[in-house]
Amino acid sequence: MTEPAKAKVDMEKLVSLCRRRGFIFPSSEIYGGLSSCWDYGPLGVELKRNIKDAWWRAMVQQRDDMAGLDSSILMHPQVWQASGHVEGFSDPLVECKGCHRRWRSDELGGDKCPECGGELTEPRLFNLMFKTFVGPVEDEASVVYLRPETAQGMFVNFENILNTTRKRLPFGIAQIGKSFRNEVTTGNFIFRSREFEQMEIEFFVRPGTDQQWFDYWVEERLNWYAGLGIKRENLKLRPHDKEELAHYARACSDINYLFPMGWAELEGIANRGDFDLVQHAKSSGKGLSYYDEEAKEHIVPYIIEPSAGVDRTFLAVLCDAYDEDEAEGEKRVLLHLHPDIAPIKVAVLPLSRKETLAPLARDIYAELRQHWMVGYDEAQSIGRRYRRQDEIGTPFCVTVDFESLEDKHVTIRERDSLRQIRVPIESLKATLQAKLDGEDLFVLPDGGKIWKE
Ligand code: GAP
Repeated sequence: MTEPAKAKVDMEKLVSLCRRRGFIFPSSEIYGGLSSCWDYGPLGVELKRNIKDAWWRAMVQQRDDMAGLDSSILMHPQVWQASGHVEGFSDPLVECKGCHRRWRSDELGGDKCPECGGELTEPRLFNLMFKTFVGPVEDEASVVYLRPETAQGMFVNFENILNTTRKRLPFGIAQIGKSFRNEVTTGNFIFRSREFEQMEIEFFVRPGTDQQWFDYWVEERLNWYAGLGIKRENLKLRPHDKEELAHYARACSDINYLFPMGWAELEGIANRGDFDLVQHAKSSGKGLSYYDEEAKEHIVPYIIEPSAGVDRTFLAVLCDAYDEDEAEGEKRVLLHLHPDIAPIKVAVLPLSRKETLAPLARDIYAELRQHWMVGYDEAQSIGRRYRRQDEIGTPFCVTVDFESLEDKHVTIRERDSLRQIRVPIESLKATLQAKLDGEDLFVLPDGGKIWKE
């Protein structure tokens, strides 16, 4: 396969679209923003929820071997001692003796400050975990951390889940939630921020079967991204060299995506061995193991961890979906979003603002929104309204015109093909459902189906 050299869209265009259409705003914008923190606006929150729901459905609800969890962000400080984060979750930083700015020494090109050319200090390790305090006293005894990964919540609940679900190996625990890292180098929009969301799986397997499960999860996760509509040529596997493995990992492969700034990590899939269960068993004094009924012995499972970022998946689906073309004689920007994740599935557009069309259009809108997130727009020309929906990735528009009042039919317009079909209102919902499910057909009032070529 030949790799594309460059992403189709640049970051500026994406940031501008996200800002203009209410996908993403800078955090606390009226105060000048807070570096590397972002707010998801009305369309962004829908797209983000749809991504998380798609992951949850496929990874938890549609599998027999997975249990869901929602553990707390604040955890006992010993968790982070045992996990190695207090000791090892740090970047090497140097400080400029002139302007006092700090830089990651492993990312600096030379030995002078890139800002003012000043002399730099020797590198010192800077821990990336945010510290805070529980209770009213701010002393060492009350220090807690905002979790830098959701994973630890799953390890410390291993026994609870085993006892309450009676799962047998191999099985996984999955959760989606916020994580926090006081990143030194941020930027590239939502790619690297200080507060972000992860979708993580800890999959417990018998030692000796770990390589086979590692390979299974790499394939499974690549297929999941493809199912979201991301093009396979924009995804690439990058196995880690031994020297760059995290302290807990025996092996790791990143799924990289061709972002506007180049290939970069979308998800990491690691073989964590028995590191985490052994560490927490030692630190807590609890025997975190699995009793094998057949062999009549306790074993400590190995863990395969597919760890994905919600925000990076959001950015990847937007990059992948972005397109510019010409429609109905005008240039348009459009997002070819998969219907499962599009923020708005259907927009109802009365052809004109005239009072006569509004009641029927509003009735259709009220009916359709029982089933999906539906938009309603009657401002400006129909062409402008189609453009607006294309730009936010709405797969289908339903146009109500004056003939609709007579013949009780409406027009469905497809975002990608620009094809328009006229369907009876009574079979509109069934037709849209079929189309949202990816079937290229429309349903007749008697329930019959006509395939469109
Ligand atoms: N539990 C393993 C773990 O956290 P990681 O590679 O550090 O591994 C997993 O993070 C995923 O979380 C990354 O692939 C990325 O998608 C996301 N992620 C990590 N740091 C991030 C940040 N600062 N901003 C946005 N997403 C981040």
